[in-house]
Parts: sequence; C-alpha cells; structure tokens
Amino acid sequence: MAEKIVVASGKGGVGKTSITVGVGKALHAMGKKVLIIDCDILRSVDLLTGVTEKLLYDWGDVIFGRCSSDEAVYESADVSVVTCPPSYDGVTEGKMKKLIAEYDEKFDIILIDAPAGIDRGLTVSCAAADRGIVVSTPDLVCVRSACTAGAQMNRLGIEDVRLVINRVMKKDIKKGRLLNVDSVIDSTQVQLIGVVPEDAKIRLGSMGKSVYKKGQVSYVPLSNIARRICGEYIALSL
Ligand SMILES: Nc1ncnc2c1ncn2[C@@H]1O[C@H](COP(=O)(O)OP(=O)(O)OP(=O)(O)O)[C@@H](O)[C@H]1O
Ligand SMILES: [Mg+2]
Repeated sequence: MAEKIVVASGKGGVGKTSITVGVGKALHAMGKKVLIIDCDILRSVDLLTGVTEKLLYDWGDVIFGRCSSDEAVYESADVSVVTCPPSYDGVTEGKMKKLIAEYDEKFDIILIDAPAGIDRGLTVSCAAADRGIVVSTPDLVCVRSACTAGAQMNRLGIEDVRLVINRVMKKDIKKGRLLNVDSVIDSTQVQLIGVVPEDAKIRLGSMGKSVYKKGQVSYVPLSNIARRICGEYIALSL
C-alpha cells in the first residue's frame, strides 16, 4: 500500500510544487516507485516533470469514467504523474478516495500537490492522504498562513503534518530580514521535516529544467526530506 502525502500551504507561490517534484525525484533515487497527483486546477506538476506534451487525460477523466486510471498516468524519467482537471465540479471526497485507491497497490509513495489555501482545493487534496507537509517561506505573512493551513489539515483528519521551510537564505536570517528556523517552527506550530535553501536551480524548474540534480545546493536538503519521509533519522544542519 502506498504512503499518501499531501503537500499544501497557506499562501501561494511558496514552493509546494517544486518541493513535491524535488522530493518525488529524491524518493525515486532511493528506489521508491513514486506517483505525483496534481490537485491544483492551475496545474504545474506536468511542466516540472516534462510530461506536458504527452497529456491527454486527467484524474477528472478517471473519476467520470472517460478513461481508466492507468491511462491517466504519464511517465517522466523518474516519477509518474497524474494531472488535474480544469475544475472540481462534481468531485467529492468519496470520489477522490476511490481514485487514489486505484493507485494504492501500484506505487510506494503518492505525493498530492495541493493548491494554495484552505478551501475546497485543500479538502479535495486531503481526502485520501495519510500524512501532510505544509510548506512555508521564512517570513511573517507565509508563516501565519502556514499555521492556519496546518490546523485546517488537522481538521480534515490529517494528524501527522510536517513543515518544510523553503527559500531559506542564511545571510538574510543573520541580518534579521527573514525569520530564523526556530521562529518559523514556533509560529506555525508544526514539527519540522526539512529546510530548503534558496536555489537558482529550483527556480529554473518553472522553465522545465530539473529541480533535483546532484551538485545543486538543494540536492542534499531535498534528499534528506525524502529520507525522513521514509523514517530515517537525519539531523538538521543549516
Ligand atoms: N528553494 C527555492 N529556491 C529558488 N526558487 C524557488 C525555490 N522554491 C520555489 N522556487 C520558485 O518559486 C516559484 C513558486 O514555486 P512553486 O510553483 O513550486 O510554488 P507553489 O507553492 O507550488 O505555487 P502555487 O501556490 O502557485 O501552486 C517558482 O518560480 C519556483 O521556481
Ligand atoms: Mg503549485
């Protein structure tokens, strides 16, 4: 049975999709069979995994009987991808659970990329998840919204929610321009699973370049998150 992990945030643009894809690739490098389900109707997982040109079906087509669950899976070089329909009309939590159950035995890890916010999109994204990750950047605005998103995930039945602090810049933290890691943990009230630095290579991900390559500054931090997801103890080093 797959471990099903939803990746969410309060504010948008904090790096959910980049972290989902980067960690997905890291899990694949560890030998895991990984499926990423895009639950954001604005869709971006396909762009970061290079499957856009292949897309014909999305998970809405599976739910409403227009294709099989296998036909909606697109293979990238490492992770498999199922993309999001253009609306949540007619989508229920029950239908999401049934959809994701179709993939349960075929993958080790299913990562669900949620849209920003705490509304319908989060409810749909959390329907079948066992665990959650909330992503925040180290600033007051995102931290407040991450706290709300974490609490909402708990209300939606996800007890195990962990925090990824993304786009960390040590220099700016030292100068007090960004919150330090302890303040972010205190303010979000979510237990930490990883810290990812600002990385120009991740930024290139939104232009279709890989967000996970040996040598990039976020390679080890993303690998560490993947290893912690699999239960390894790895001390945090900043
Ligand atoms: N650690 C990082 N270093 C540099 N750039 C990053 C980092 N993480 C994300 N970005 C950039 O930030 C932008 C937003 O990232 P991404 O799309 O992953 O965020 P998101 O939370 O999924 O956004 P949305 O809420 O719109 O779904 C992208 O241009 C991405 O390349
Ligand atoms: Mg996104």
